[in-house]
Amino acid sequence: MRYETIHNQRIPKIGFGTWAIGGQTSADPVDDERSLGALHSALELGYTHFDTAEFYAAGHAEVLLGKAIREHGLARAELFITSKVSPEHLDYDNVLRSCTNSLRRLGMDYLDLYLIHWPQAGMKLEESFRALNQLVREGKVRYLGVSNFNLKLLTKAVSLCETPLFTNQVSYSVPDRTVVDNGVLEYCQQNDVLLTAYSPVLRRNIKSNPTLRAIAQSRGVTHFQVALAWLTTQPRVITIPMSFNPQHQAENLQAADLILSETEMEQLGRIMK
Ligand SMILES: NC(=O)c1ccc[n+]([C@@H]2O[C@H](COP(=O)([O-])OP(=O)(O)OC[C@H]3O[C@@H](n4cnc5c(N)ncnc54)[C@H](OP(=O)(O)O)[C@@H]3O)[C@@H](O)[C@H]2O)c1
Repeated sequence: MRYETIHNQRIPKIGFGTWAIGGQTSADPVDDERSLGALHSALELGYTHFDTAEFYAAGHAEVLLGKAIREHGLARAELFITSKVSPEHLDYDNVLRSCTNSLRRLGMDYLDLYLIHWPQAGMKLEESFRALNQLVREGKVRYLGVSNFNLKLLTKAVSLCETPLFTNQVSYSVPDRTVVDNGVLEYCQQNDVLLTAYSPVLRRNIKSNPTLRAIAQSRGVTHFQVALAWLTTQPRVITIPMSFNPQHQAENLQAADLILSETEMEQLGRIMK
């Protein structure tokens, strides 16, 4: 596994997303066995960064993640756990309450990273960061970040964060270059903010793209691995694919070790523009 080191913290280039673990917008315990199976195989394969949120399955994803980690028996210090506060909880009291609830559901006493899940019209970022900074001072959270923030909001968050803002988690993939076009990627790379790419392989056209197919064939890997390697080859970029399938989980993890050449990066950079 390759790592990105930022603000003296090492974080794997590939982590594990937990959207759809335990349900979607509400808890769906009928599927718990499948969800726990996916988390156990991810832990077994060596994933150490897990991305979750109070929003995922209305908190049930955090419950299952905590359970799988306890059952697996890996030391807390070996893991990097990210969770997120939902936009309707961004006032001071609710930020503190949401974090307490996430920790309780996970069965943990700190989060490695806590993010504002997405911005809300009319939100008072000063108030949110008053609570978020307090969580860091109290040792409940190690690093703070944001998600789905445009450049203007990102620079505001950087200025309000008492510690270096760790990440902006955004949609970024071969077919989705929004963060290139809106300046977010460049800002992150120039200002030591990690860019965490979500939905890295979600779009169907990953599979049908001829450039991806040609590179995958020449490297003896899958389209999905090339799409992930295109992200992880970039400085200051990590990604968090999600899969229920142990074979896919293993392939995704291995993609971090695939370093694409400048020519391959350029070829991929030219497609889907
Ligand atoms: N901050 C935000 O607003 C936000 C938004 C969206 C997502 N996220 C986070 O980012 C994570 C990842 O994003 P995502 O779940 O939207 O999309 P994704 O990881 O890009 O795609 C997941 C889908 O791709 C399939 N897949 C994964 N690896 C594969 C492989 N090697 N070969 C074939 N199919 C593969 C999975 O199916 P199988 O199960 O069959 O493998 C699943 O259907 C989420 O779980 C969540 O933690 C954050």
